[in-house]
Amino acid sequence: MINKLTIRTPNDMHVHFRDNDLLSLVVPQTDRYFNYCIVMPNLIPPITNQEMAIRYLNRIKKHIKKGLKPLMTFYLNEKIKIDDMIKAYKNKNIFALKLYPKGATTNSEMGVKNLENIFKILSSMEENNIPLLIHGEDTDKNIDIFDREKSFIDKYLFKIIREFPNLRIVLEHITTSDAVHFVKENKNIAATITPHHLASNRNDMLVGGIRPHLYCLPILKRRNHQEALIKIATSGNKKFFLGTDSAPHDIKLKENDCGCAGVFNTVNSIEILTQIFDQQNSLKNLENFVSNNSANFYNLQQNESTITLIKMDMPINFPKSLKKNNVILKIYKPNFPVFWKIKK
Ligand code: DOR
Ligand code: ZN
Repeated sequence: MINKLTIRTPNDMHVHFRDNDLLSLVVPQTDRYFNYCIVMPNLIPPITNQEMAIRYLNRIKKHIKKGLKPLMTFYLNEKIKIDDMIKAYKNKNIFALKLYPKGATTNSEMGVKNLENIFKILSSMEENNIPLLIHGEDTDKNIDIFDREKSFIDKYLFKIIREFPNLRIVLEHITTSDAVHFVKENKNIAATITPHHLASNRNDMLVGGIRPHLYCLPILKRRNHQEALIKIATSGNKKFFLGTDSAPHDIKLKENDCGCAGVFNTVNSIEILTQIFDQQNSLKNLENFVSNNSANFYNLQQNESTITLIKMDMPINFPKSLKKNNVILKIYKPNFPVFWKIKK
């Protein structure tokens, strides 16, 4: 039995830091155990130009002590100026662009309604090798919420890869076996998977009472989809890697008549993942999923530093929340015990 494991420092290729007061609460959590992270741009107003990305990065940097390397993104919509985008990418002030279909999730009102309106931008991204990160859900109100990911793939993603065969694409926070299949079968496309979509399914959210802290988008799916995600994540397949989609919202906005979407998981995400990989007898692939695969896909240097995980005899205690002033962030906890702990 393995009870100690040393792996390259992880990367979080999808994280929400928000802004202002919240930064001081959440950035240090990612800084603890991650090297690179890709920072989502869905602020109000969204990050849509080089100047905004630089200023946002500087606000984030004030809270980094250990050496976290944030990689910034633009919020892709009709407002993006192609010249500014190319400059920002060449100056390394952005790393990618994030596409939100209008209305798909938190702060997506400024997202894209008609994909064809951004084809010129996509074409320039393809030409300049700039990655496109996609929230892949069809927001047509006639599509059932559990079918939105599959519908997006069928209706839009096939079209995007046909029009832009050399565009590097990451389908973010995938939740279905359909997405796993699509990513496996097509070139120039990879996917992130979150800890909560690996550890939980819709029964965890809805049976025996409704648990608003498990509500996220794309919504948790049924168990067979969860199993498809676990199988591919723990397989070592190079196209799949960690993006926590850690998305903090104050407890008052989660436990609400109309609660908002997002799971705040950063604090224990690596421990939870290690437990899942252990359950699958796949600890040997943990480093691929949390560190190597993303570095490979994005042509980043492999992390040289490492972290060490120790298996305890008793389940570890999860802190319940993070607090500052009158903000409370409830920390994600799966419904199984976690025995792995990061050595300090
Ligand atoms: O659950 C989610 N929360 N999904 C997203 O796509 C966005 C995120 C957020 O920003 O809160
Ligand atoms: Zn997200």
